Amino acid sequence: MSRAELSVFIRSLGVHAPDRKLTNTELSAMVETSDEWIKSRSGISERRIAGAGENPSDMGAQAAAKALARAGLTPADIDLLIVATMTPDVPFPSTACLLQAKLGLRRDIPCFDISAACSGFVYALQVGTDMLRSGNYRRALVIGAEKLSSVVDWQDRATCVLFGDGAGAAILETTATPDVGVLGNLLGADGVNAELLHCVAGGSAQPASEQTLRDRQHFLRMNGKEVFKLAVRVMADSCERVLKGCGKHSDDVAWFIPHQANIRIVEAVADQLQVGLDRFPINLDRYGNTSAASIPLALEEAWTAGRIKHGDLVLLVAFGAGLTWGATLLRWHEPSP
Ligand code: UT7
Repeated sequence: MSRAELSVFIRSLGVHAPDRKLTNTELSAMVETSDEWIKSRSGISERRIAGAGENPSDMGAQAAAKALARAGLTPADIDLLIVATMTPDVPFPSTACLLQAKLGLRRDIPCFDISAACSGFVYALQVGTDMLRSGNYRRALVIGAEKLSSVVDWQDRATCVLFGDGAGAAILETTATPDVGVLGNLLGADGVNAELLHCVAGGSAQPASEQTLRDRQHFLRMNGKEVFKLAVRVMADSCERVLKGCGKHSDDVAWFIPHQANIRIVEAVADQLQVGLDRFPINLDRYGNTSAASIPLALEEAWTAGRIKHGDLVLLVAFGAGLTWGATLLRWHEPSP
């Protein structure tokens, strides 16, 4: 079958969220904030916090195991693994290689990480789709897994209230059925705005030193106001461009699955697209911003709740550090048993 004839769809999903819940009230005892401020400015009520030994590769492996079990597949059925993360277990090797070993995937398949922050899952989905369309692989595991609690400055109230930990996994599969699965996509980046959301130290430019530790440079820093404005503009624009490229309109879309950063960002995007908020499944109130894990966590929740049905058009849209952004239009496909 030629590349043009292969469709790639999401066959199954699985998620893992740490048990430990950190509420806004608990946070108010850690920094000068309040449940009222956090809820009204972001929509977040609580987030999950991973424990020691509960790393992105562990959470990703748990999520993937659930996705495999749901599809009646085993690790041996996977031909390719891509992990999107901005909080890898270690600088190297990749979290994907660690996850491959933990999950017991075949020892000869390609496994690699993608670094696109909160847009990571959408980036990984597109890279996985294109690799499957090459015809060289049948099934891919695409995972977003994050432990933001390890890079958040728990003394910085402007950021520590926003983020959480978790993982979501999707199994991508090829099919000869035309016009299902990934219909179109758009990825973009603007490195000129890198400093709006970044971590200064811990890489090769500024390795860990007593000075970087003293200056708290191993933590995430964000210009929230600027990120907010760009997020709304770029997410709405990405949706419009993908829809136009596929000859569709926002009215055709059953579900928009946005990156879950802030309810006010989602509201503004829905407003710009002139789409009711009821078509945007939300779970950021319970998970906070989980970066690359956020879209699969929301997608899985909407799917397992029976909201997403066979044939529905689903539009995933993300925005994050880099700056990066991306959108993917899917026609949801449930293959007959
Ligand atoms: O995945 C993409 C990554 N990031 C995002 O999507 C985040 C995008 N940005 C945002 O979500 C919002 O900008 C925030 C939620 C981060 C902040 O909301 P805001 O309405 O832009 O608030 P602000 O930064 O303008 O702060 C307003 C006030 C300030 O006080 P003053 O200067 O007005 O006296 C802050 O110091 O709120 C203060 N503030 C807080 N107060 C209580 C900031 N953080 C807190 C806090 N609790 N946690």
